[in-house]
Amino acid sequence: MTEAAANIGVVGLAVMGSNLARNLASREGNTVAIFNRTYAKTEELLTEHPEAGFVPARDYAEFAASLQKPRTAIIMVKAGGPTDAVIEDLISVFEPGDIIVDGGNALFTDTIRREKRVRETGINFVGMGVSGGEEGALNGPSLMPGGSDESWTTLGPILRSIAAIAEGEPCVTHVGHDGAGHFVKMVHNGIEYADMQLIAEAYDLIRRGTGKSPAEIADIFAAWNEGELQSYLIEITAEVLRQTDAPTGRPLVDVILDQAGAKGTGGWTVQTAIDLGVPVSGIAEAVFARSLSSHPEQRAVSQNLPGPRGEIAVDDADAFVEQVRLALYASKIVAYSQGFDEIRAGAAQYDWSIDLGKVASIWRGGCIIRAQFLNRITEAYDEQATLPVLLTAPYFVDALERAQSAWREIVRVAATSGIPSPAFSSSLSYYDGLRADRLPAALIQGQRDFFGAHTYKRVDRDGTFHTQWSGDRTEIEAVDTH
Ligand SMILES: NC(=O)c1ccc[n+]([C@@H]2O[C@H](COP(=O)([O-])OP(=O)(O)OC[C@H]3O[C@@H](n4cnc5c(N)ncnc54)[C@H](OP(=O)(O)O)[C@@H]3O)[C@@H](O)[C@H]2O)c1
Repeated sequence: MTEAAANIGVVGLAVMGSNLARNLASREGNTVAIFNRTYAKTEELLTEHPEAGFVPARDYAEFAASLQKPRTAIIMVKAGGPTDAVIEDLISVFEPGDIIVDGGNALFTDTIRREKRVRETGINFVGMGVSGGEEGALNGPSLMPGGSDESWTTLGPILRSIAAIAEGEPCVTHVGHDGAGHFVKMVHNGIEYADMQLIAEAYDLIRRGTGKSPAEIADIFAAWNEGELQSYLIEITAEVLRQTDAPTGRPLVDVILDQAGAKGTGGWTVQTAIDLGVPVSGIAEAVFARSLSSHPEQRAVSQNLPGPRGEIAVDDADAFVEQVRLALYASKIVAYSQGFDEIRAGAAQYDWSIDLGKVASIWRGGCIIRAQFLNRITEAYDEQATLPVLLTAPYFVDALERAQSAWREIVRVAATSGIPSPAFSSSLSYYDGLRADRLPAALIQGQRDFFGAHTYKRVDRDGTFHTQWSGDRTEIEAVDTH
């Protein structure tokens, strides 16, 4: 019988699991049990990293026996069916009070379902968002665990020991119960889509507007990275734009096929936002922009459609670049504000208590959207935890004020020149929609009442009303059928 030597275990030793296991093993006080369905992978990890002192297991019984109680295991296997299979296998060898953590990219509704199932056995289940990819898993990810308070007591110190550190603080917090961690990770990915799309649009506008080369634009992004736009995504954008393709000598960005892929979390964020009734237009435009790019057959037959050909006459290149920077920052504020709205709505819907400022602070390190800017979001929620719209916080109002004319000018230039800028323009429209005193939604209510007797409210008195459109067109009081 194996001695219970390990305080934490990892199941699934592909790139994410093995890196996370090595990260855990490198921290003071941790002994890590490892298990993989195919034992050869376990042996490989043992051979390559003898320094880690891993405790290997050939089957689930041996794995359970190697763990101290309460047993704690992090699953890092293929999301979906494989995760369900591993959970059932762990249930068969674990005991009440033990903790099963799913660190894969699960859909939060699956996590809610799994938490319910595992709870019936007396075992704790924690769905945990892990951000930062392979590099983050090895050196310090941003971690978003959900699950029960009881499991957090055991898990907290372990997770704090392996998380990325930002300004002295580990990038991990107990996000909320059951699916809250995976929900927050999902929205994180959605925001990442929007941020990347905005950066791509900024690059495209500068290139077409000023004729600068990718290497010159790399310098612009590197300079932006010294200011309020400082972020990992801006930093790597400069790196990608500076890269030359060795075989052709051309900028790498010019030889990469312009069809963007996606693994689905952006789409989940949008689908969930639709269910919650939250407009995340920046994220949606980013998801759809990738879809549009990936339909070459449609793009091929559409190339000769009428319209300007994407040429901009810019007199002052430096001034134009600065306008693009301001438009990018303003649009980015909108995208993050929308993302945090979705988290707030999700928390209300699923009864999670989520500290939005804390969420922003654990994204400052380890993850793809890490940025200085997140400190401003934490400050905004520290100031007013119930802030209904993030972009109305004073710091952001100031930034939006500074960006006004540039933002509108860039969207105008893009439209009149025929340059697609879905994220820039939709964020400006969203912003103007929020600001509007009256929206044409009143007309939509009238139309709905006309064809479907859906009724409407009035601005001047309480109650619900219907106009008898097919009769004498008088108004009657009606039952609310919204
Ligand atoms: N947060 C991030 O940045 C990030 C990045 C990448 C991945 N992920 C997530 O992290 C998880 C692991 O990703 P990965 O790329 O390291 O691995 P992966 O390719 O998604 O999965 C491979 C692992 O799953 C195991 N597996 C597959 N089917 C199984 C089954 N039916 N029963 C038991 N084990 C099974 C494999 O075992 P065998 O060796 O026996 O085949 C292997 O250990 C995934 O959920 C992925 O979505 C997150």
